[in-house]
Amino acid sequence: MKIVMFQFSPAFGQVNENLETIGEALADQRADLIILPELCTTGYQFKDRAELAALAEPANGPAMKELSEIAAACHGHLVAGFAEESGSKCYNSAAFIGPAGTIGVYRKIHLFADEKRLFEPGNLGFKVFLAGQVKIGIMICFDWLFPESARSLTIAGAHIIAHTANLVLPYCQTAMITRALENHVFTATCNRIGVEERIAGQTLHFTGASRLVDPDGKILAEGSTDKTHVIVAEIDPGLATDKQITSENNILEDRQPDQYNLS
Ligand code: ACM
Repeated sequence: MKIVMFQFSPAFGQVNENLETIGEALADQRADLIILPELCTTGYQFKDRAELAALAEPANGPAMKELSEIAAACHGHLVAGFAEESGSKCYNSAAFIGPAGTIGVYRKIHLFADEKRLFEPGNLGFKVFLAGQVKIGIMICFDWLFPESARSLTIAGAHIIAHTANLVLPYCQTAMITRALENHVFTATCNRIGVEERIAGQTLHFTGASRLVDPDGKILAEGSTDKTHVIVAEIDPGLATDKQITSENNILEDRQPDQYNLS
């Protein structure tokens, strides 16, 4: 299975320009799964809810339709972060897109910092989507800090966690080695680069370093902290179905839920 991640710096508010950037970068690619960053069509730092509402669009809106044409040209599926309009509400969402359009949506559950004032928290849970026979789980950026996110996707059967991101803290990329290992899944963090400083005193530096990690915690491919990259890797998703970590230890069966206090 060929995975492609496109790490770039979306231009704030320039949806058409961002779609063009994505289309040009992926023009010659054939891929089974393409992953793009969080909020990749709009940029990240909305000043207020009105600005967000003006740029948000439904899961089957025009930007997602254009991304489905890119998915079709690449002969694969695509995961893209976008600002989702649903009735009067906006979610920080990721669309799972096939050649014929949006198949489903994940809405970010763990909102980060100012996102709490802009978006509604996700209300669709953690689900997997099918790319052929391969189960794709989706989480968005700050969801990484809550191990329950990746665990929920693992229990739902994910082979690959497509992790679309706009990371600003320095911890996640290293932590994803653990998320991959503790769940025996592939994790593909596609993070943006660049700077946004649309609000005085709140400059955001996005950390790039997108990375694909295998179920043993090995980094298969990664990007730099500050450059635009198309990151390509071949994987065998079947490796994620083996949850044995020693001949006598299975990472799911050996859990002891009666002994945990998770509430
Ligand atoms: C983040 O969740 N975008 C940091």
